[in-house]
Amino acid sequence: MTAQIIDGKSIALDIRREVAEQVRQRTASGKRPPGLAVVLVGSDPASSVYVRKKREACEEAGFHAEDHDLDPNTTQETLNALIEQLNEDPAIDGILVQLPLPDHLDADEMLLRIRPDKDVDGFHPYNVGRLCQRKPELRPCTPAGIIHLLDAIGTPYKGQHAVIVGASNIVGRPMTMELLLKGTTVTVTHRFTGDLPRFVADADLLIAAAGKPGLIDGEWVKPGSTVIDVGINRTESGKLIGDVGFDAASRRAGWITPVPGGVGPMTIAMLLRNTLEAANNHDG
Ligand code: GUN
Repeated sequence: MTAQIIDGKSIALDIRREVAEQVRQRTASGKRPPGLAVVLVGSDPASSVYVRKKREACEEAGFHAEDHDLDPNTTQETLNALIEQLNEDPAIDGILVQLPLPDHLDADEMLLRIRPDKDVDGFHPYNVGRLCQRKPELRPCTPAGIIHLLDAIGTPYKGQHAVIVGASNIVGRPMTMELLLKGTTVTVTHRFTGDLPRFVADADLLIAAAGKPGLIDGEWVKPGSTVIDVGINRTESGKLIGDVGFDAASRRAGWITPVPGGVGPMTIAMLLRNTLEAANNHDG
């Protein structure tokens, strides 16, 4: 079997066009454009690339985009003060602070300070709790983007076994909640899981989100399954690869996401959607 490729880039582009059209209609009716503040502390190379892409997407969609590039030695007090200022700014609908933060800063404290209705990453405990309660408001972007991809290929969800590799706050945990909402049976594996190949072999849906290049041997993949690779790892030669050995996995799976061009573009598309939703919620 040769897997069909899930073209995240093209699906994300459709969403971005749809958001841009809605922004056009908003502004044509006299409303202000959605406003997103993107905060980057320091200059981690991977984070800088992601932030640049997010900012470009905002501009292209017609958003009001604000860049806040902070010194790597920024104190928690300065970061808190910026968030307070953005919370109160009526032109700002969404606040995104790129993670990870430098070690001396406390991300949990920072997240608690973002107003939940401006938390377009869906990382504030209020939004995490709403998703866990099956009443999601602003949802984490990467899991929401993966659900969009799975919907696009007609995933049946109910009766399927999803195996998530990685239990992070950004992907693994919210992904678990999204798939439970769909009626899927979910197993979460992590660094302390023994016998990972056994779990992978039983996965109708494999969500690889460990951030470890080639952690999952493509030969473990269940024939006909759907493989979603969230990993974006740069090799020494500068090539981007996922957490799953792509060549072997694509000979076994029914559907597979490429790296790059799979999940990554969907995260950005969902960020735009969340910001538009926040702006609509802030109207009137
Ligand atoms: N770091 C990796 N992914 C993300 C994300 O979706 N949002 C933020 N803020 N930081 C991240």
